[in-house]
Formats: sequence, C-alpha cells, structure tokens
Amino acid sequence: MKILLTGCDGQVGWEICRQAPEYNFSIIPTDVGNLDITDLGALRALQEKERADIIINSAAYTAVDKAESDQELAHKVNAVGAQNLALVAAESNIPILHISTDYIFDGRSTTPYLDESTPAPQSVYGKTKLAGEQLVSEANPKFVTLRTSWVFGIEGNNFVKTMLRIGNDNDEISVVADQFGSPTFAGHIARALLLLTEQYKNEGTLAWGNYNFCDSGITTWHGFASKIMEQGLARQQLESLPIVRPIRTQEYPTPAVRPNYSMMDCSKFSKCFPKIGIQSWEAGLIEMLDALKTKGTS
Ligand SMILES: NC(=O)c1ccc[n+]([C@@H]2O[C@H](COP(=O)([O-])OP(=O)(O)OC[C@H]3O[C@@H](n4cnc5c(N)ncnc54)[C@H](OP(=O)(O)O)[C@@H]3O)[C@@H](O)[C@H]2O)c1
Repeated sequence: MKILLTGCDGQVGWEICRQAPEYNFSIIPTDVGNLDITDLGALRALQEKERADIIINSAAYTAVDKAESDQELAHKVNAVGAQNLALVAAESNIPILHISTDYIFDGRSTTPYLDESTPAPQSVYGKTKLAGEQLVSEANPKFVTLRTSWVFGIEGNNFVKTMLRIGNDNDEISVVADQFGSPTFAGHIARALLLLTEQYKNEGTLAWGNYNFCDSGITTWHGFASKIMEQGLARQQLESLPIVRPIRTQEYPTPAVRPNYSMMDCSKFSKCFPKIGIQSWEAGLIEMLDALKTKGTS
C-alpha cells in the first residue's frame, strides 16, 4: 500500500509519518517545498511516477487570521489544491482522504452539529475549507473527509505549546471562556487516517463521505488552558501554576470570527467505523505532554 501524503511537515502530516511504521505502508512524504498542491501538473507527474494507491491530504493553509487578508492564497491551497488532489486520485481510480474543519459551521448552534447540518462558515478560512470539501466530493466519488477541530500536536505550533510558554513566563494569564469546542490530538487524526487506509486495503472500499471527527469531550479555551497548566505542572513542564483568568471573546479581538460553539456530533463516524472509534482530548493531551518531555517543545 503506497500513500501519497501531502503536508508531511504539519501537525497531522508529521504524526502520520511518526505512526506509519506501525503499519505495512510505504509513504511518499511531501510538503510545499517539494510538492505544491496548487500545481496540478506537478501532482500528475508525481502520481505517474509513483503510482500511489491512496492520497492523504494533510496540507492546508491554516493561518485563520491571516486568511482574512490573504483570501486568494487561502482559496488556492484549501479549495483548488484539495480539488487537484481529488482529480489526480480520480484519474488513477484511487481514493483521497481529506481533512476539513468545524469552521465550516456558523458556531451559533446550541446543540452539536451533525454531519448533515447546513454549513455557514463565518471566516475566509472556513469558506475556503468548505469549498475544498465540496470540490473534493465532486472530483472523486472515492473520498473520506474528516471534519476536525482545535488541533494540537507534538510537532508544529499550537495552543498547548503557546500556553506552556506563556504559563512559564507569567503568574496570571487570560483565556477566552465563552467559545466551546473539542480539542483534538493530531495523533488521533493520524491514527484514524491510517486505520481508514488499512480498512481500504483489506476491504477494497470504504463508506465514502464527509464525517465529523473530533476527540470526545467539550470544553472552552479557558478549560483547555487550565488542563494544560495542571498537566504541565504534574509533568514538570511548568515551574508553578499560573492563575488562568476567564475572559470574554470581546476582550480578545481577532481578525477572523471564531465559532462560539463548534461541538460536532461524531456518531456517524463511530457507527460507520466502529473499529476506529473516537478518543478523548485529555488522553491526547497527556500523550502529547509526555512526548514533549523527551522531544522538547520546539
Ligand atoms: N490546526 C487546527 O486547529 C485545525 C483545526 C481544524 C481542522 N484543521 C485541518 O486539519 C488539517 C491539518 O492541519 P494541521 O494543523 O496539521 O496544519 P499545519 O500544521 O498548518 O500543516 C499544514 C502543512 O501544509 C503545508 N502547505 C501549505 N500550503 C501548501 C501547498 N500549497 N502545498 C503543499 N503543502 C502546503 C504547510 O506548509 P507551511 O507551514 O510552510 O505553510 C504545512 O506544512 C488541515 O486540513 C486543516 O485545515 C486544522
């Protein structure tokens, strides 16, 4: 089983490479330096040479605030790039596994979003990711797109690393307490994508479609930060426990609108892929902190 992997230097892509040795797959790791997904010709040439059996797209334009003033590039990567990959996969009659986001929803719900809830993205990033989802499904019937949220991983910059850094430099920090969502460990997304690949290898097909896929449990950024501090202290990555002060979104303005509530109901994924299942974000956080202890936080 040969996997053409994009975005291998990102949070999820790095995890796929880290976990791949547990499976009997051969990975062709690419990132923007050697394969720009917006270049359809380059994608076709690579696939012609490598003849991969499946494409996993973990590449994306993920700078949510920057996207507000960089719409063209965000669309090119998240929509056109994803479409290119789906097209190349369709031309080889192979599947594409793709990743989307909770930002495709409007964030105004008070109950978890279902897989078929109507998308209404409020930010440029969310709009480009929604376009990507739609273009992937139109270009290749053999697709699985996992919509995930609040990703944190061992590699790359993310909320966990930022909190550990500012927690070490400050006695008190302020964190938004009125946005609700599900943090998701990049390692859990990578595991799901690799298990989907294995299932495809064994069964020759998958239940194609869009799926909500995030770690179990709901919290706020404030709740997430408090848990990071508590676990960081227990694992000696913090010298003392800072006060984590709850603030409102208005007190921390950002260029892009964030969903107030982005909890996603993942029961369709659990039902269709019972052997893969859903793990908790707290378990992912502990795994990440333990890994950082040996790897360092860079
Ligand atoms: N991060 C989150 O909180 C979050 C939440 C929900 C969903 N997601 C989705 O989850 C997926 C993985 O996210 P992540 O956090 O692992 O992202 P990430 O860490 O930002 O990694 C994305 C990778 O894609 C690369 N890339 C950017 N433009 C490219 C291009 N034109 N061609 C090839 N590669 C390109 C990036 O390179 P550069 O770094 O050099 O740009 C980076 O290495 C994405 O689809 C994202 O939209 C993420």
